[in-house]
Amino acid sequence: MIKVKRRAAESAPEQTQKTIVGAIHPDVLRFTVGKDPVLDLELVEWDCIGTAAHVRTLEAMPVKPAIISRQDRNAVTGELVRVMRAAREGRFVITEADQDVHLAVERRLTETLGDLGRRVHTGRSRNDQVAVDIRLHGREHLLGLILETAELAGGLLRFARKHERMPMVGRTHLQPAMPSTVGLWASAYAEALLDDLVTVEAAYTYNDRCPLGSAAGYGVPLPLDRALTARLLGFSAPHHNVFYASNARGKCEAITLGALTQVMLTLSRLAEDLILFSMPEFGYFVLPAELCTGSSIMPQKHNPDVLELIRAKAARLLGHSTAACAVIKALPGGYNRDLQETKELYLDGVATTRATVRILSVMARSLTVREQRLREAFSPGVFATDRALELVADGMPFRDAYHHVRSHLDELLTADADAAVAAKTHLGGTAGLDFAWLAGRVRATRAAALKRRKASHTALARVLGVGYPDLA
Ligand code: ARG
Repeated sequence: MIKVKRRAAESAPEQTQKTIVGAIHPDVLRFTVGKDPVLDLELVEWDCIGTAAHVRTLEAMPVKPAIISRQDRNAVTGELVRVMRAAREGRFVITEADQDVHLAVERRLTETLGDLGRRVHTGRSRNDQVAVDIRLHGREHLLGLILETAELAGGLLRFARKHERMPMVGRTHLQPAMPSTVGLWASAYAEALLDDLVTVEAAYTYNDRCPLGSAAGYGVPLPLDRALTARLLGFSAPHHNVFYASNARGKCEAITLGALTQVMLTLSRLAEDLILFSMPEFGYFVLPAELCTGSSIMPQKHNPDVLELIRAKAARLLGHSTAACAVIKALPGGYNRDLQETKELYLDGVATTRATVRILSVMARSLTVREQRLREAFSPGVFATDRALELVADGMPFRDAYHHVRSHLDELLTADADAAVAAKTHLGGTAGLDFAWLAGRVRATRAAALKRRKASHTALARVLGVGYPDLA
C-alpha cells in the first residue's frame, strides 16, 4: 500500500482546500488525487522534458508579442533541469494540494520564475501533458526492457550452447516422451523471448507518437507547431487527430501491458520448468543456494522463491493488462478521469517486468546441470518413437512399426541417448540448432535498441540544453 503524504490535517467536510485549479472539498481532493503524488514522482523527469519542448514550441510560435521569448525559454528550461536534479535526489515533493506532477512543477516554476511560470501552461492541458509523460517514460523503459530481454536471451543461449548435446528427457503431459537436450530446452526460451520482443517492438512503435499540443483533446486556437514538438522530443511523428491523441491515453498503456504480459508468460513458464527440474525428485538443474531462500523453521530448506514470485507476477501483469483494457472498454470519447487509474497499472507493470527479466538473467548465469540425473531419467520408452521410425526407414509402414515397438519395449533397453539426440539433424532439432543465427538475432535486437536510445537521448539533451541522461 502506497501512503500519500498529506499536507493538511484531516479536515472537517465543510472546509475546502485551495489548489491551483480552485477550492475543493478535502475528501473529494483526497479521493480524486489518489496515489498520484507518489506515482507521479516517477514522471517528474518526463514532465519536465515535455515542458521544455512545450516552451520551445511556444517560443517558435509566430505571434506578436511572443508569449515566451528565447530568454524566457532558457530560464524555464534551466529551472526544469533543477527540478529534475532535485527529483533524482528525492528532493522534489508533490503534495496533495498540487494533485499531480503537472501542477507541482507549475507551482515550482511560478514560485521561482513568477509570472513567467504562469505562462508555461499556455496551449496545453494536463491531458496531453500526462499522455506525453507516459510516452516518454514508455520509450525509455521499453528500450531498457528490450536490452535486458536480449541480455537474458543471450544468457540462455550461452547456457544452451554449453549443454548443447546434454541429453534431457523431452516431456509431453509432463510424462517422458522423446529424447531431447538441455540445449533444445534452454534455446527454446531464448527464441521465445526474441519473438516476444516483436510484440514489445509493436508497442514501442505504437508509443512513438507525440500527443503534446492536442491540449484537452480539441487543440487550441494558437499556431502551435506540433511537428516541431514531436521532433524536439524525438518522436517519429505527432498524433495527427487531436481528439484521437487524447483517446489514445489508456490504449497506449493497455497495448504496452499486453506486450509485457507476453514476455511475462514466457518467463513464468521458464520459471515453472526451473522449479520442477530443480526439485530433488528431478534434480536436473541446481539453483545455487544464494539464489534460493530459507525457511524460518526448517533448517534444510533452499526454496525457489524468486521463481515462484515470477509465476505470480505474470498473473499480476495479466491482471493489469486486463484492467487497463476494462478501463477503456466503454469509456466515452475524450478525457475522463478513469484514465488516471491506468497509470498505476502501467507503471507497476513496466517496473515488474523489467525486474523479472533482470533477476532471471542472474539465475541463468548461475544455473548448473547434473548430468547423471539427466541421463538416469531416460526410461526405455523415451526411445520408442525413434525406434519405430528406424523400422519405417527399413520399409515397415509406420502404424505397423508403432504396434511392433509398443509390444517390444524391452528391445529399447540398450538405446543410446547421445546417439538419439545426434540423429535429429533437421532444422531446429537437437542436432540442428543454429546457435549462430540465434546469437545474431540477440545482437541485432541489442544494436537496434541502443541506436534508438542514443537518438532519444540526443534529442532530450538538445531540448534540455544539458547532457542526457547525466544532466551535466
Ligand atoms: N492526474 C491526472 C491524470 O492522470 C492528470 C489529468 C487531469 N486532467 C483533468 N482533466 N482532470 O489523469
